[in-house]
Amino acid sequence: MGIVEWATSPWGQSVPIHVSFYLLWVSAIAGLLFLIGHAIWLRFSGPEEYEESARANAAALVPDKVPRHSLAARLFHWIMAAAMLVLLFTAFLPKVGVEFPWVTYHWVAGLVLSASIVFHVVHASFWLDFWSIWPDRADSEDGLRRLRRSLGLSAPPPRRFAKYPLENKMYHGVIVLAGLSVMGTGLLMMFRVRTPFLTRNPYLFGDMTWGWMYFLHGLAGVGLIALIMVHIYFAIRPEKLVITKSMIFGTLDRDYYLSHHDPARWGPEETATEEAAAGD
Ligand code: HEM
Repeated sequence: MGIVEWATSPWGQSVPIHVSFYLLWVSAIAGLLFLIGHAIWLRFSGPEEYEESARANAAALVPDKVPRHSLAARLFHWIMAAAMLVLLFTAFLPKVGVEFPWVTYHWVAGLVLSASIVFHVVHASFWLDFWSIWPDRADSEDGLRRLRRSLGLSAPPPRRFAKYPLENKMYHGVIVLAGLSVMGTGLLMMFRVRTPFLTRNPYLFGDMTWGWMYFLHGLAGVGLIALIMVHIYFAIRPEKLVITKSMIFGTLDRDYYLSHHDPARWGPEETATEEAAAGD
């Protein structure tokens, strides 16, 4: 029971054709186990403690509503989310027995996802703080402190977060890998299907190359099942609803900001400048 489905080409060569689709269940069950495990762990873990910072001085500068996501960033997020869900359902419903002509819906949603990803990369690189989503030294030091404390070992409390906690940064890194993989392979796979704007050309690559391309597309695709489940689980957890609300309205409440974020690492002035630069 491997992870690659093989077939024999007309020339008698053994070639990969798909990822083995039982993996969609492995991914869904792994996602479910993560949710259950996390919910149990959270039930029995104590409240987070943070190192004291100079936030009392900064508090006076913090507005009632702290800007967190610009309108452009929020639009990107929700367009991408809709495209992603359409892609997952059109790809995997037929694999679990719900037959319908899925391919056209799939590639149309694929083009929407690809366009929104390209927009996001340009927007985040030139208008937002590009580095805010990549782990830095303070994140790894604090991650180590949190790990030691959770194991009952001595370590000072971690600092409050900058704009994004380390877990969010790591999640983003993984979703970038999976997202770019489905996008890159999916765009090339458009040559295999009939579309109004491309001349179909299944001979663009050999059987072996196509096979690995379909495999990678499917592998990243099944991985996205667990990733999206985890993302939606966090979005609807009661203590995270405030973050989800900020993805709709764009701002964080002052109290939440002061209790979870370190103004020295992600300041209200910095966020205001970022918004002004984003122009919305
Ligand atoms: C969440 C993201 C995505 C998931 C889960 C996903 C999943 C899948 C799966 C499981 C297949 C069947 C592969 C196979 O038969 O081996 C497939 C095929 C395909 N996907 Fe995606 N995909 C995603 C994104 C995209 C994107 C971004 C595009 C285009 C830009 C795209 C275009 C295609 C095309 C053209 C096919 C081939 C259909 C065929 O040959 O019949 N997909 N996708």
